[in-house]
Amino acid sequence: MKEKLEQIRKEASALIDKASVMEELEEIRIKYLGRRGELTQLLRNLGGLEPSERSQAGRMANNLREHIESNLSQKLNLLREAKREVELGQGVDITLPGRNPQIGRMHPITRQLKEITDIFLKMGFILAEGPEIETEYYNFAALNTPSDHPVRDTQDSFYLGKKILLRTQTSPVQIRIMEKFKPPLKVISAGRCFRRDAADASHTPMFHQVEVFQVDKNITFGDLKGMLEIFVRSLFGRKTKLRFRPSFFPFTEPSAEVDISCVICRGKGCSVCRRKGWLEILGSGMIDPNVLKTVGYNPEEVSGYAFGMGVERIAMLKYGINDIRLFFENDLRFLEQF
Ligand code: DAH
Repeated sequence: MKEKLEQIRKEASALIDKASVMEELEEIRIKYLGRRGELTQLLRNLGGLEPSERSQAGRMANNLREHIESNLSQKLNLLREAKREVELGQGVDITLPGRNPQIGRMHPITRQLKEITDIFLKMGFILAEGPEIETEYYNFAALNTPSDHPVRDTQDSFYLGKKILLRTQTSPVQIRIMEKFKPPLKVISAGRCFRRDAADASHTPMFHQVEVFQVDKNITFGDLKGMLEIFVRSLFGRKTKLRFRPSFFPFTEPSAEVDISCVICRGKGCSVCRRKGWLEILGSGMIDPNVLKTVGYNPEEVSGYAFGMGVERIAMLKYGINDIRLFFENDLRFLEQF
């Protein structure tokens, strides 16, 4: 009898020690103290013993019963406690230094876009938007670029249908606005453009342009020049020099490309300007009379200028960035610098 009780004590203690969930404890209770439990059976059989032995064995068995019960309830408390700690997110060390929240900021291109746009908004231009999915008519034909025009080769496009494409430039916004409104107009538009260019240090298939144009009576090349001077000097600094180079765009006549004195070497010649001292920043010109006629204006009565620029290119020149792909790789080490 004594040995049997001792064995139960050892077994039960070991099982209780090992138990890791509350349900196991209930099983152990049933196994020893339940109606058919091992200890219960023993107690029931006490009647078969000698009276002298009986009372001693009874005391021992009851002791053991209390022992097991108290072990069980201790362990139950322990497991409850542990469960609660897990639930409360155990392991929170309130003495650890806090984590700095990562503070978001505008993407450098968004910032550059805003900076450019703000300059024109201050001068009374209104902001217009056009669709990124454009018809071939607005993107090319209405801009004096018929389908057999070689200029189309330089703007290899993503076609979504026969006559629908992702716009290759923001210039179609000129047409959309002029169709709807009568002069005088001073408009700026900005947004994404798309071309089928393989990505390299100076090309990405998606990029941003800003388009600016003004139409009124007696707008001359002098107005274009004046506006560009104000713009370039607000953006790159008062000492920046401007140079116009004759060029060609189908929707402007005459057309000019605009260079600024190199923002890095101030015109002395460096690797950024390839020793030329000048950087090309945008295309411009007087709106072609054909374009004015297309939107129903009379070129004898009104005239206008237009210019357009790549936002990435401007940001690259401004911040000395040598690879356009950096803007779109989303590497925080790059983006955090702005
Ligand atoms: N859209 C032209 C391009 O992507 C840039 C441009 C040139 C826009 C002359 C103009 C302009 O408005 O007058 O190459």
